[in-house]
Amino acid sequence: MPQRKLFVTTALPYANGKFHIGHIMEYIQADIWVRHQRMQGSQVHFVCADDAHGAPIMIAAEKAGKTPQAFVAEIAAGRRPYLDGFHIAFDNWHSTDGPENHVLAQQIYRDLKAAGLIATRTIEQFFDPQKNMFLPDRFIKGECPNCHAKDQYGDNCEVCSKVYSPTDLVNPYSALSGATPVLKTSEHFFFRLSDPRCLAFLRQWTASGAVQPEVLNKISEWLEPDAEGKVAMGDWDISRDAPYFGIEIPDAPGKYFYVWLDAPVGYLASLKNLLDRTGGDYAAYVADPAVEQVHFIGKDIITFHTLFWPAMLHFSGRKVPSKVCVHGFLTVNGGEKMSKSRGTGLDPLKYLSLGMNPEWLRYYLAAKLNGRNEDIDFNPEDFMARVNADLVGKYVNIASRAAKFVPGGALAEGPALAALDAASLADSVRALYESRDYARALREVMAAADIVNTAFDAAAPWKLAKEGQGQRAAEVGSWCLQMFKLLTACLKPVLPALAAQAEAFLQCAPLDWDNAATPLPAGHAVGSYQHLMQRVDAKLLEALFEPPAAAAPAAPTAATAAGGSVPGGEALAPEITIDDFTKVDLRIAKIVACEKVEGSTKLLRLTLDAGEGRHRNVFSGIASAYAPEQLVGKLTVMVANLAPRKMKFGVSEGMVLAASHADDKGAGIYVLEPVAGAQPGMRVR
Ligand code: 2FM
Ligand code: ZN
Repeated sequence: MPQRKLFVTTALPYANGKFHIGHIMEYIQADIWVRHQRMQGSQVHFVCADDAHGAPIMIAAEKAGKTPQAFVAEIAAGRRPYLDGFHIAFDNWHSTDGPENHVLAQQIYRDLKAAGLIATRTIEQFFDPQKNMFLPDRFIKGECPNCHAKDQYGDNCEVCSKVYSPTDLVNPYSALSGATPVLKTSEHFFFRLSDPRCLAFLRQWTASGAVQPEVLNKISEWLEPDAEGKVAMGDWDISRDAPYFGIEIPDAPGKYFYVWLDAPVGYLASLKNLLDRTGGDYAAYVADPAVEQVHFIGKDIITFHTLFWPAMLHFSGRKVPSKVCVHGFLTVNGGEKMSKSRGTGLDPLKYLSLGMNPEWLRYYLAAKLNGRNEDIDFNPEDFMARVNADLVGKYVNIASRAAKFVPGGALAEGPALAALDAASLADSVRALYESRDYARALREVMAAADIVNTAFDAAAPWKLAKEGQGQRAAEVGSWCLQMFKLLTACLKPVLPALAAQAEAFLQCAPLDWDNAATPLPAGHAVGSYQHLMQRVDAKLLEALFEPPAAAAPAAPTAATAAGGSVPGGEALAPEITIDDFTKVDLRIAKIVACEKVEGSTKLLRLTLDAGEGRHRNVFSGIASAYAPEQLVGKLTVMVANLAPRKMKFGVSEGMVLAASHADDKGAGIYVLEPVAGAQPGMRVR
């Protein structure tokens, strides 16, 4: 096969938070593919970068009292331990705020403009008169026009899921200042994606095999005419007004590129940064028709990568992506899907700090990834079973049992113990990596490991050794080690560190797809066997999912240090600042009505008056401690700015405060009641 040239990327993470397990899954998926490519001699440039720009990052930086540059630099500085920790071998990590990206994004824009694909239009938008800035949809809140839930975002309602535009909100307010936004006009720049040239190009490119069938299906909605001959694809608003943390639009003072314009350009910027630093020729590389550009992304950002980005590249006279590989979401314990900002219970750094082997996770995720954009779930029992029973119990086991029967480590030649065609296994597994069907690749490897173990058991070399047939036992052990070498090559993209240890034990050349199926020569001496991998201990998984407070008790407070007692049966939560506390808006509320909830033994439905001129419906798990009539007429304390939560029995619009001992889930619950004089609506601080 001719040597391929590959430019591979993963989605650039926003530089406003730590990695969560969803990021790590994507990086592992891409890293496995890249390692597989390198094993077949492909020349790969594998890059990523921080996605630094945009209003949310600018605002988060301001809140943190930092410049956006300092803010994103701090986030960037925390990336290494994750990447090294999970053996993710990017060749470069850059930033979309790097100088290369400014130059490239502006050049691409100029080229699109020269192609006649940039238009300007005046639009009306909400403006925060106090902050003096236009508000992104996410920073406008108000009452849902549909279900009238309070404090909903400007783009959709979290209670009734209705999608609308910010101008539809009842009593809108700025989430930044609380001010009532005003409508203001501004000139915006658009990429004319609805131009017939763009549509024609995108229809052709999307159908060229660059995307998975399920992805093509989804994006066709944007390109195929409806019954009236209209297509859904509109022009794309690519500008934002100052103040904005981003890249300035040439010849347009006070205008910046919308973050999603310059973000994918960051792929090229990171590549350029790498090539410039390592003596490569960026211009020649990106013009080289042999270079394949491959993007790994999640299914939430399909339109940006399969419509906007290819069109940007094509109409600016650049090469288009060869492949966009879309994966699904990762859930943990069957729980909620990963979102960009919300993590799940599986903290990647905690995983590493507990001393858990990163290759357990690589193996487990690979065993679930199949090259389609389906969601996958991390399930702790399944994780333990796959690692312990398959990876250690089947594969590692081969080396540990076979090595004993090869005296001095010198491999003996003998008949094969089972019909296992090394070359066809290696070919098949290699093709499965190529199509990102890692799950099937690993199933084939484990099926082969089963064959080897069964053959070993049947040959019973321990008996042969006892019966004075040492030579025959050595042949059995040697054949198993040859198969172990084959399987190691097949697992190497997933388990680079384990494979390196195995290569050291086998004293063989680095394994690749060329030498995977070639047996080591007779007489070749392997090293002495050292145990290659521990099994997962259930205690580690327990610790991994233990809530932070219990897993890592805060430094002892005066009370615990002196008396050693844990107040209320639980360690104190980690320290917070006064700013953290004031985020929680506590109000005095009157319980105007209270009733049992049919179908629930735990919940009471409370109707609360917090002086807002309306009542709130709140569910509270206090049915075991109070009869409804005990509470009616009482004052209590309510969390008033908690996002409304849809529950089985209705929407809960707040939470009442109650005290309980950690161990007491029953009647020992005490609803908080203020000292006489407090009035509904008063803030508790
Ligand atoms: O969705 C996200 O997390 C974006 N930061 C991904 C950007 S990918 C590329 F376009 F930069
Ligand atoms: Zn609603």
